[in-house]
Parts: sequence; structure tokens; C-alpha cells
Amino acid sequence: MGKDVIIACDFSSKQACMEFLDKFTGKKPFVKIGMELFYAEGPQIVREIKERGHKIFLDLKLHDIPNTVKKSMSVLRNLDVDMTNLHAAGTGAMMEGALEGLTREDGTRPILIAVTQLTSTSEERMKNELLINEPIDKVVMHYAKNAKDSGLDGVVCSPLEAGKVHDLCGKDFLTITPGVRFADGDIGDQVRVMTPAEAKKIGSDYIVVGRPITAAEDPVAAYERCVAEFCD
Ligand code: C5P
Repeated sequence: MGKDVIIACDFSSKQACMEFLDKFTGKKPFVKIGMELFYAEGPQIVREIKERGHKIFLDLKLHDIPNTVKKSMSVLRNLDVDMTNLHAAGTGAMMEGALEGLTREDGTRPILIAVTQLTSTSEERMKNELLINEPIDKVVMHYAKNAKDSGLDGVVCSPLEAGKVHDLCGKDFLTITPGVRFADGDIGDQVRVMTPAEAKKIGSDYIVVGRPITAAEDPVAAYERCVAEFCD
């Protein structure tokens, strides 16, 4: 399991997404489908991309009462995705319910990972608005441990946190890391970034890469560069 490049397919329509995927003639990259594309096109987009032979990370970040999340996960499990996620802030009861719902009758299930604190949440806002007074890195590690104790497979985190998550939760606990940029590329709106090679060195299991591939002049070459830096 692990060491793969996941392309964030942040498109607003099926047409734009398929035009992008059509560029990949030989390889079938692992793709992330997020809320934008899923809400635009519905579950059928997941089935169609799966039929094309891609692995899918369905990034819907569920967060609700345990029963609702459990029942939603038992619907999502029929989409046959490879990975999906939720917010660890929903607590252990919600995470355990999610796992139960996601597990198919034959015992198989997609990889389930947790979002700890979103990287867009600053320590200041966390303190002032959420009334969480611990330092943010302590909160992230604590939520990662809660996810591990609830039986989840890993967390989404900054590549800068991946090493610490492995130290705390074990090397088999997966770290899925966005915020990846080429050394000679634009960082855009990401703040704390790493190159694919650095993410590999620090022990990320999967990198999630969006615009450095989707907005590249040659997306296939950009994807292959990521794979060469991260996987080989
Ligand atoms: O285009 P870019 O490489 O910045 O895309 C990164 C992807 O990872 C986007 O889909 C973004 O929503 C997602 N993501 C992130 N930071 C997080 C969680 C998810 O950038 N903490």
C-alpha cells in the first residue's frame, strides 16, 4: 500500500475533467474527486472515472452525527472507491460508525482517512472561534491519534507533519499530503509547501497534487515528473 501520486481533479464539470483525463493515454493515475465535481455531476462521475480504470480518492470530508455518517458511508461503499475521508472533529463515535458503514458484507472497504484541523485554519482562529487553546500542532497530533484509536487508516496532513504523525501513530498509519509544489513552480495560495522529493524523504505515503499538474502546459509530463520524484 502507498507511495503514489494522487491528482486533485478540481474541475466544475464532467467535460472539463474528462478532457483532462483523456490526455493520459497509457497511464491511469490515481485521482481525487472533491466536493466541486461530485456536487456538479453526482455519483455517476465516480462510476465513470472508475470504469476508465482509475483509482479514486473520494474527498467529501463527512462530518455529522454518527448514525448519519454511518448510513452515508454505507451508500458510498457501493461506489467502489479506493479511499474516502471524514473530519476527525466528529469524534471517535462518528469515526467508528463511519468504519462500520463503509465495510462491505465481504469484509472489504475503502481506505478511510481523517482530516485533522484544516490547513486553512490558523491557530488564532482555532483559539478565538473554536475555543481550542492548545497549540495547533498538538491538536493535529491528538486528532491523528484519535483517528488511529478509532481504527482509521491514516490522516490528511501537511507534508511537514507527516514525519511526526508516523512517529506517534506508527509507520503503517498513512499520511496523505497536499501542499506539494515543484522547486521551480508557483506556490499559488498554498502556504507551507514541499517538493515531491522532499515529501518522499519525510515519509509521506501519498501526495495530492492539483494545479502543478492540472494547470501545467503539459500535464502528463508534470505528472510523470511527480512520479519520478516521489515514487522512484
Ligand atoms: O492545486 P493544489 O495542488 O493546491 O491542490 C491541492 C488539493 O488538496 C486541493 O484539492 C485542495 O482542496 C486539497 N487540500 C489541501 N489542503 C488540505 C486538504 C486538502 O490543499 N489541508
